[in-house]
Amino acid sequence: MKIKEILQTEGVEQEISVKGWVRTRRGSKRVSFIALNDGSTINNIQIVAEAADFDEELIKQITTGSCISVDGKLVASKGSGQAVEILASTINILGGADAEEYPLQPKKHSLEFLREKAHLRFRTNTFSAVFRLRHALTFAVHKFFNDKGFFNLHTPIITSIDAEGAGEMFQITSLDLEKLPKTKRGEVDYDIDFFGKKTSLAVTGQLEAELGALGLGQVYTFGPTFRSENSNTSRHLSEFWMIEPEIAFADLTQNMDLAEEFLKYCIQYCIDHNAEDLKFLDARMVEEENKLKKEERSEMGLLERLQFVIENDFVRLTYREAIDILRNSNPNKKKKFNYIIDGFGSELQSEHERYLVEKKFKKPVIITDYPKGIKAFYMRMNDDNQTVSAMDVLFPLIGEIIGGSQREERLDKLQARMQEMEICQEKLWWYLESRKFGSCPHSGFGLGFERLIMFVTGMKNIRDVIPFPRTPQNAEF
Ligand code: 4AD
Ligand code: MG
Repeated sequence: MKIKEILQTEGVEQEISVKGWVRTRRGSKRVSFIALNDGSTINNIQIVAEAADFDEELIKQITTGSCISVDGKLVASKGSGQAVEILASTINILGGADAEEYPLQPKKHSLEFLREKAHLRFRTNTFSAVFRLRHALTFAVHKFFNDKGFFNLHTPIITSIDAEGAGEMFQITSLDLEKLPKTKRGEVDYDIDFFGKKTSLAVTGQLEAELGALGLGQVYTFGPTFRSENSNTSRHLSEFWMIEPEIAFADLTQNMDLAEEFLKYCIQYCIDHNAEDLKFLDARMVEEENKLKKEERSEMGLLERLQFVIENDFVRLTYREAIDILRNSNPNKKKKFNYIIDGFGSELQSEHERYLVEKKFKKPVIITDYPKGIKAFYMRMNDDNQTVSAMDVLFPLIGEIIGGSQREERLDKLQARMQEMEICQEKLWWYLESRKFGSCPHSGFGLGFERLIMFVTGMKNIRDVIPFPRTPQNAEF
């Protein structure tokens, strides 16, 4: 039986078997108490092993980190820490763990240390809770869109297009890098590369999702995304997961409504299905916060913050309005921001986003209608010819969690913009044909999955919400 099931069992005095990893063993010469966990829940089951029933050598091998199977009787616990426990009749060591060498001793380890032990960190309370929540969120994403009649679309991971135009792509090739074939003009000859052209890992599945939406009506992708931006921050990964819905006939307002409903749904799903993990992480966060100076502590606990986001409407304002607020803000006037906002065209840095979300509105904020110069080519041009129909959803502690837009569905306008931005139209002939044949207004967005997990779990570093993080200079495991 899984420990989760056992702990919910009402009928005691039954024979059961359980397998799991030993968290701790304590006790006396007469009796040992083993805290066992199998990953099904944050809670351990207590195994009671009477010395008289077991070989002393066997008991000695039951150390922290070892894996055991236990047969015994489920009984009401005599101790106060738990309702039930297992009185063991047979114990087998499936895999020992040398007590001297096993890195995860039963004490508090730093997250940095555990990142180096990513192969073992699933066995800690914190990481098992985080990865159970990651699963719950995956499930919630699929359920949300399935219930709304969206179709999941698998878009290619290998691509020849830099759809975001940021030039942050990992090139892939089967050419021998030591002996690159050259053309007569001395350039690398991609004609004889594997795909007959220069290819890379995808930075988005959006352009293909748009093609899907313009036939299937509403689709969503959920896949790995690769970006070689060299930003070693607590919010960036080189390999992350993104969810990109794309909806035919939707305008920017409908797009924002969907994004807001989607985020609230995912958070509610975790509250409904992972209450114990959230309770644990909430307590963990309180402990962490208490180490900070008073003025650095957040005003809300984890659970409180999740509830707050579900219960409140997100604030919606245009980029121009945001710039006005920021320009007149105290940190801008007193030059406290690292980047001073001087007017239309300024990029919003995370310090500005956090000011709006955490200081000014104290709520999630959606900023719309950004200057065309700081956004991708595919966004729909507004009538002012200066701004595009874009939206960024900003969350407390996280900053940008979603980026999206209404798409430019008008062929002439799209071509004009591509020309302005020097984007090769021949390569994107298929994208342009979607505007030539049966085009229609449509919108979509991309949610950074790990940023959502950070928000829900309260983890402060994105490396701690993906099993095996990929970041600059790091591809271990
Ligand atoms: O804002 P971005 O770049 O938008 C797109 O890729 C669009 N194609 C989405 C769409 O309209 N279909 O990325 C979307 C989100 C960001 O808001 C952020 O949450 C996340 O993806 N993101 C990252 N997450 C982790 N590490 C990175 N390096 C990220 N870059 C973006
Ligand atoms: Mg963005």
